[in-house]
Amino acid sequence: MTDLPKQRKLPLAHHSAALRTSVYSGKLPPEVVGCVSRIHNAAFSQLGQSGWSEQSVDSLAVTDGAVLIATFADKQMAGFILTRHAADEAELLTIAVDPDFQRAGAASLLVNSAKLELEKHAVKSLFLEVRRDNAAAVACYKKLGFEKISVRKNYYTDDSGTKIDADIFRLLL
Ligand SMILES: CC(C)(COP(=O)(O)OP(=O)(O)OC[C@H]1O[C@@H](n2cnc3c(N)ncnc32)[C@H](O)[C@@H]1OP(=O)(O)O)[C@@H](O)C(=O)NCCC(=O)NCCS
Repeated sequence: MTDLPKQRKLPLAHHSAALRTSVYSGKLPPEVVGCVSRIHNAAFSQLGQSGWSEQSVDSLAVTDGAVLIATFADKQMAGFILTRHAADEAELLTIAVDPDFQRAGAASLLVNSAKLELEKHAVKSLFLEVRRDNAAAVACYKKLGFEKISVRKNYYTDDSGTKIDADIFRLLL
């Protein structure tokens, strides 16, 4: 008897078409906190890093100017972005997409949604900091129009003790 092929995931294009977003500011519902922490850990474990605990997510979300946007495929959270703004500047604190939903446009949707949301708060520039060896994130930011504006030399240290630069990017809104 021939083995049946393992069930394939839905084509990525299907995920992309179904994505919708929700914007949160202030205290997050517990189920959102749980999903955000789960996705952050799943996405950053691909890079050999640990993600945020539920307690960290809970407390970051209530800091002044914090806005969290999550994207959903049907009822399943696929990814999220967290920004914090003050006056006309904002910082992208983190963005993470569930590995099952990557390369389907979720991060692009999240960044574009964050731009629209931040424009409502009169934000003019969105800054972020990224490890130079995070190829997926660097490619993603460049594709979305971020420009590298400076470097923090030897900002990160990996498990083997190697120092890695942080690149600072800016997107003008
Ligand atoms: C970086 C990350 C958020 C991208 O999410 P995503 O939903 O897969 O990104 P998108 O599908 O919107 O991709 C947009 C563009 O980014 C680039 N990109 C995304 N993932 C990539 C990869 N693995 N390799 C190379 N380029 C990549 C491509 O240019 C892509 O456009 P294309 O698919 O048309 O070629 C996701 O890989 C992730 O969660 N990584 C782990 C967490 C992380 O690194 N966060 C950022 C920390 S600063």
